Amino acid sequence: MSENPSSPAPAKKVFIKTYGCQMNVYDSDRMADALGAHGYVQTAEMDDADLVLLNTCHIREKASEKVFSELGRIRDFRDERGPGAKKMLIGVTGCVAQAEGEEIMARAPAVDLVVGPQSYHRLPSLVAKARTARVIDTEFPEEDKFAHLPAPKRDVTISRGLTAFLTVQEGCDKFCSFCVVPYTRGAEVSRPVAQVLSEARALADAGVREITLLGQNVNAYHGLGDNGETVGLGALCHRLAEIEGLARIRYTTSHPRDMDDELIAAHRDLPQLMPYLHLPIQSGSDAILKAMNRKHTAAQYLELIDRIRAARPDIALSGDFIVGFPGETDADFQATLDIVKKVGYASAFSFKYSTRPGTPGAEMVDQVPEAIKAERLEVLQGEITRQSQGFNSGCVGLTLPVLIEKPGRNPGQVAGRSPYLQAVHIEADQNLIGQILPVEILATGKNSLTGRIVTADRIAV
Ligand code: SAH
Ligand code: SF4
Ligand code: F3S
Repeated sequence: MSENPSSPAPAKKVFIKTYGCQMNVYDSDRMADALGAHGYVQTAEMDDADLVLLNTCHIREKASEKVFSELGRIRDFRDERGPGAKKMLIGVTGCVAQAEGEEIMARAPAVDLVVGPQSYHRLPSLVAKARTARVIDTEFPEEDKFAHLPAPKRDVTISRGLTAFLTVQEGCDKFCSFCVVPYTRGAEVSRPVAQVLSEARALADAGVREITLLGQNVNAYHGLGDNGETVGLGALCHRLAEIEGLARIRYTTSHPRDMDDELIAAHRDLPQLMPYLHLPIQSGSDAILKAMNRKHTAAQYLELIDRIRAARPDIALSGDFIVGFPGETDADFQATLDIVKKVGYASAFSFKYSTRPGTPGAEMVDQVPEAIKAERLEVLQGEITRQSQGFNSGCVGLTLPVLIEKPGRNPGQVAGRSPYLQAVHIEADQNLIGQILPVEILATGKNSLTGRIVTADRIAV
């Protein structure tokens, strides 16, 4: 059958599978945008993809080992399509690509390309090259990738929903002794203020109501302002709050040492800045904090929490904890439980320490046995679950402003988020999606709240 020469070539399809943190979620969208400018459309099914990208995470051993098993599965799937099927390229991006690019090339011959996080703006040309020979690009290029990555088309942004991520800072200079991020993402870099504002305006213009500013150390943000001045995260939030339509601002992940007065004051002064803060401490023991190279004590963290709560009394706190860091004794672990009890978290994540090659922690002699890590994790998670259930039940009877985001699980339901990032299910009409409405919280479930819309004069925060 002959084709009409004037008809456009059928779009190629890219399937992207994302692992790891929100920054990878953001990056996956930006990769889709970059490929979109070269004729690719994103598909939710691997079956009909011309290109499969695994956007990977290296933070713990389990996360990075997953990549190799998934690659085996994709290779088998490709082989089963038979020789007549169209060629499907397989690519690995993200933090495992950066940390173990050469190893992937050696261990997984089915992989056609490996691209590190700083080279995503080169993705279309790297994919084109990979059609003839295997490609690896894990350099830290000179140029600013953000300046070269195309903005998404407006209809693409609209299709992504009412909330959006926006990376403002990348990389980390902190070198906590357990962590791979400084090696996989490189040194701390902040995007210029004008670049952030123009991306945020485009999002708001496409109907986005809530943005979450992202960075491996987001509150270390120090972007270049229009007059050559350095702008911190607090001041950046003030500028973002001026954007029409943008009702809510969040940011993650913060380091206690970068929580400055300006940012704390922004929590007091900016109604758009949501009262929810993810501020990991990792351990409650000073000896372990020191060995982790966190460069602050438990008492300094508590004092910081007091200052933040003085500025915004209803702020909900979240954190990350590692149990079983080398040398952690029962008393050190008890100190972690104690600090969790003192702070009172609305939610928190906890992990067993995972030895990461190339980090100082991996060289430490007094590694903790797996069975003890597992025991401690269970105890800690029990306490965290109790606290988050307590926080959620404390919301029953309150009226909270909820951003109605999408249709709910059941017909006649919509789903949204409270200021404290709780999922809220409401019996209500779908035409309310996009609005922020006062919702009386009626009950708590395992991971969400249920509520009903009430009149505006009963709003609580
Ligand atoms: N920049 C953030 C954390 C990014 S990594 C911060 O400084 O808080 C996300 C979380 O993964 C960390 O907070 C830590 O709790 C956990 N994590 C990082 N490396 C780990 C490791 N080797 N083993 C177990 N958990 C780890
Ligand atoms: Fe990792 Fe520490 Fe940097 Fe966070 S601050 S990304 S835990 S090195
Ligand atoms: Fe994982 Fe890289 Fe994020 S290691 S947690 S994907 S920065």
